[in-house]
Amino acid sequence: MFWAAPLLLLVAIMGCDRGSGSSGSSGSGGGRVKLGFIVKQPEEPWFQLEWKFAEQAAQKDGFDLVKIGAPDGDKVLSAIDNLASQQAKGFVICTPDTRLGPAIVSQARQRGLKLISVDDQFIGTDGKPMTDVPYLGISARKIGNQVGQALWDEMKKRGWPLEGTAVCVVTFDELDTARERTEGASEALAAAGFPRDRMYPAPQKTSDVPGALDAGAVLLTQHPEVKRWLICGTNDSAVMGAVRATEGRQFRPEDVIGIGINGTDCISEFEKATPTGFFASVLLTPKKHGGDTIEMLYRWVKDGQEPPKDTRTTGILIDRSSFRQVLREQGITG
Ligand code: GLA
Repeated sequence: MFWAAPLLLLVAIMGCDRGSGSSGSSGSGGGRVKLGFIVKQPEEPWFQLEWKFAEQAAQKDGFDLVKIGAPDGDKVLSAIDNLASQQAKGFVICTPDTRLGPAIVSQARQRGLKLISVDDQFIGTDGKPMTDVPYLGISARKIGNQVGQALWDEMKKRGWPLEGTAVCVVTFDELDTARERTEGASEALAAAGFPRDRMYPAPQKTSDVPGALDAGAVLLTQHPEVKRWLICGTNDSAVMGAVRATEGRQFRPEDVIGIGINGTDCISEFEKATPTGFFASVLLTPKKHGGDTIEMLYRWVKDGQEPPKDTRTTGILIDRSSFRQVLREQGITG
C-alpha cells in the first residue's frame, strides 16, 4: 500500500528494532503486551546489555519488545508517537537529555503510555529531579566513593608520592548522576588525604570517548609538571578517553591509574595483551537496569502493580585479573 513505504522509512530512520522477545507473535494482535525500551546511546555496550536483558525478560514473560535508539529530543518524541501507533502500552527510557522529562511525561500521558526512567533521572521545570516518575539508577555518589577509594589504594600499592601526582576528573556536570559520581570520587580521595588543589576537572563536551579524549588532552597540556595521573569520570568511556590522552603524551601505563564505571564498556582494555592505564572499573548491574525495569513495567501494565518510585543499584570493582570471573558470575557473559 502506498502509505506503507514512508512509514517503514520512518521506522528505519529511528533505528527501531523489534526484539527477538516478540518471537511467535505477529505484532499488536493476539492480546500480547507490547513495550518499548528507548536509550540515548545505542552504540554503548552498556545500553546494548540493557536491551539484551530486556529481551530475556520479554522472552520469559511473553511480551513484545521494541528497542529504539534516540540520541536527541526529536527522536525521543517521535519514538513515543511510533510506540503509541503500534499500540504499545508503555516504555522504559534513558533520555538523551534529562530536561526533556516534563515533555516526555506529558506526551506519554496523552498517548496513554506508562513509563519508567532508567539511568538518567528526569529533571522537572523547577530544576529538581522528578521523583513522581518511577526511576531506577545507580547509587551514584557511593559508587563514586568506591572509585576514589580504589584509586587511592592502588596509588599507595604502587608507592607513588603525592608530589608530582594529580587527579584528572573527567566531568559531565549537566547530568546529575554523572556529577554525583565524580564528586563522590573526589570526596573519597580528599578524605583519604589527597590534596583537593591537585584534583583537576576535565569537562567533557560530549559524553563519549572522543569527548573525554579532547577534555583530557586539554588538561594534560595545562599541566606539564604532573608526572603521574589518577583518572576518574562518569563511566568507562570517560576514563578510556582520558587514558588515550595520556598515551598521546607518552605517559607510561605504570604512571597512570584510570578507574571507570559500568564495567561493560572497558572489556577490550582488559583483554589487551599488555596493561594500559585503564586499571579497573566498577561493574554495574545491566541485568537490573534492563531486565528488572522492563519487568516492573510489564507487571504495571498487566496486573496494575505500581513500580517503586526510586530504586538504586550498586557495583563491584573489577580489574584485569578478576573481570572474566565476575562477568560470568553476574550473568553478563556466558
Ligand atoms: C548513564 C551513563 C551510562 C551508564 C548509566 C548507568 O546513563 O551515561 O554510561 O553509566 O548511567 O546508570
